[in-house]
Amino acid sequence: MNDSREIIISADGSSTLKLNEFDECFHSINGALSESLHIYLHSGLEFYITSGKELTIFEMGFGTGLNAFLTFLYAKFHPYVKITYITIEKFPLREFEYKELNYPERIASLPEYACMENYDKECMENHFLALHKASWGSVQNLLPNFSLEKVQGDLLDFELAPNKIDIIYYDAFSPNIQPELWDTRLFGKLFHWMIPGGILVTYSSKGIVKQALRDSGFMVKRLPGPAGKKHIVRAIRP
Ligand SMILES: C[S@@+](CC[C@H](N)C(=O)[O-])C[C@H]1O[C@@H](n2cnc3c(N)ncnc32)[C@H](O)[C@@H]1O
Repeated sequence: MNDSREIIISADGSSTLKLNEFDECFHSINGALSESLHIYLHSGLEFYITSGKELTIFEMGFGTGLNAFLTFLYAKFHPYVKITYITIEKFPLREFEYKELNYPERIASLPEYACMENYDKECMENHFLALHKASWGSVQNLLPNFSLEKVQGDLLDFELAPNKIDIIYYDAFSPNIQPELWDTRLFGKLFHWMIPGGILVTYSSKGIVKQALRDSGFMVKRLPGPAGKKHIVRAIRP
């Protein structure tokens, strides 16, 4: 799955990776950065968070590190929030791949980040690389209020203690390519990892995905999607 992949530029100018064999991208070609901001940051983290909160996020598929980086930046600029970030990845990017991604530059040009005093593109680049260079299999405290644990492995074999996770960023490849990652058995496992009231956000609003989430016990809500996508999903563990 990592043999033939190339970096391409999506419609908002941010990079993403394309799997040539499956003609599948890591993000929406209509805008990788806009998609991640809309689904995981705004509809996930910012929806869920309340002042003074300590929370644990699990991300399926560390990949380019974009979701982890946006969450890291959120913690950096919201010191009252404490985030434990756990993520799994079966096929980590190689150094020459993650060094080519333009997220630090693109994010630094966004108005909401450009105005951050003493935090420029170079700081962003260093922090983005730090996420990628963080060792696999151990907890790294990258900020006083942000720790990262990257697990190299397969989600299908991975286990976590029950009632631990507040938010799941569910960012697997599409159900067409990896149906085993979108079924009731898998979602049932994630359901038990979550605390009651925890949320799962994902880009796929396919009927079979929503049904598998409901069959696993989630309450499913369809939300407006980012550019080029009608809907996304936020599911709540009641
Ligand atoms: C759609 S991409 C998204 C990646 C990431 N969230 C990002 O923003 O770049 C899906 C990711 O899941 C990884 N993956 C695929 N199958 C996996 C599995 N069984 N267990 C863990 N990771 C897997 C892929 O290598 C890829 O990095």
